[in-house]
Amino acid sequence: MSSRFPYRPFIISGIAILALLVGCSPAERYRVLSVFFDGVPNPNKKEERPQIPPGFDSTRRADSARALKKQEPKFVFHEPYRERACGDCHSTRGGNRLVMEQPDLCYQCHDDFSETYSHLHGPVAGGYCTGCHHPHMSEYPKMLKRKGQDLCLYCHEKSDVFANEVHDGIDDSDCTDCHDPHGGEDRFMIN
Ligand code: HEC
Ligand code: HEC
Ligand code: HEC
Ligand code: HEC
Ligand code: HEC
Repeated sequence: MSSRFPYRPFIISGIAILALLVGCSPAERYRVLSVFFDGVPNPNKKEERPQIPPGFDSTRRADSARALKKQEPKFVFHEPYRERACGDCHSTRGGNRLVMEQPDLCYQCHDDFSETYSHLHGPVAGGYCTGCHHPHMSEYPKMLKRKGQDLCLYCHEKSDVFANEVHDGIDDSDCTDCHDPHGGEDRFMIN
């Protein structure tokens, strides 16, 4: 476990984890396990590190505003981050400790998906919003960490997905053209 971010072990059924692990390469298994047991996807992945904009030095507010403005076309900022309401999510007692775990951290301000859907997507149920969203900012809309199919193929093995004939001919369409990323009426989460 990361000592800096004490995630609780994700409450995902053994079946859920098996479903992802069966037929995976060792590298894939490592990746899935590290996502679900560590909460730290891959420490070597550059994209997992939030880029703090140079302007977040509170002693230099004017520079800060300019720095933000300069970056604006490139990044989508999370509103509480933009407003420097760091304390909404982080303990003020030092370190980057979170005030509570996901998903409750996010449900402080966003609707609880368990009230919207009868079936939740694994990482949503398991409180791993940051499997897809960056908590601070992103170069992609909706603060997503990856774009297109890469968002989903980060966890779902491409060959497994495309082995299923329902996916014949989807080419490079977004998975979210058909699937809701958060949940749905049943486990397939069809839009
Ligand atoms: C909406 C909630 C939220 C807000 C607001 C927020 N953070 Fe975070 N922050 C997070 C979460 C969640 C993580 C852990 C990310 C992860 O592990 O995937 C994090 C991680 C971090 C990290 C560690 C990054 C790393 O290297 O892993 C730093 C530093 C940080 N935040 C600084 C800030 C600062 C400074 C602010 C205010 C300008 C801020 N955060 C506002 C949720 C938030
Ligand atoms: C302190 C309140 C607060 C917390 C906590 C918070 N958010 Fe937000 N979030 C907002 C506000 C305000 C907006 C902008 C208005 C909106 O779209 O609802 C927003 C927008 C978003 C958006 C849409 C961005 C866009 O471009 O439309 C996403 C995605 C999001 N938040 C995810 C998260 C996740 C994931 C967490 C937990 C790690 C989280 N939020 C925690 C307040 C919060
Ligand atoms: C599997 C990836 C994935 C996970 C996990 C995930 N999201 Fe999202 N989220 C998305 C995508 C994709 C969108 C954009 C949907 C769209 O544009 O229609 C989105 C959009 C959002 C939005 C913007 C409002 C909206 O519905 O368009 C919010 C807020 C949000 N997510 C919050 C969360 C929270 C809170 C969690 C964890 C409980 C979470 N998400 C987990 C992929 C994910
Ligand atoms: C952070 C890892 C992660 C990401 C990213 C992710 N998923 Fe999942 N997905 C899971 C887990 C875990 C399950 C639960 C498996 C189970 O319950 O058997 C799951 C289950 C599903 C299922 C149901 C499978 C079944 O047989 O019941 C669908 C459909 C699905 N995901 C689609 C998507 C789509 C579409 C995206 C991209 C928007 C996506 N996933 C991104 C981890 C992820
Ligand atoms: C054209 C619509 C469409 C697109 C695009 C699509 N799916 Fe599906 N997907 C479906 C349907 C329909 C099902 C099966 C639902 C059923 O059997 O009732 C399904 C089932 C699944 C399942 C569960 C069954 C299995 O094969 O394991 C997963 C996981 C999944 N999709 C992931 C993805 C991912 C990842 C992408 C993007 C690479 C994607 N889907 C793109 C329509 C789509």
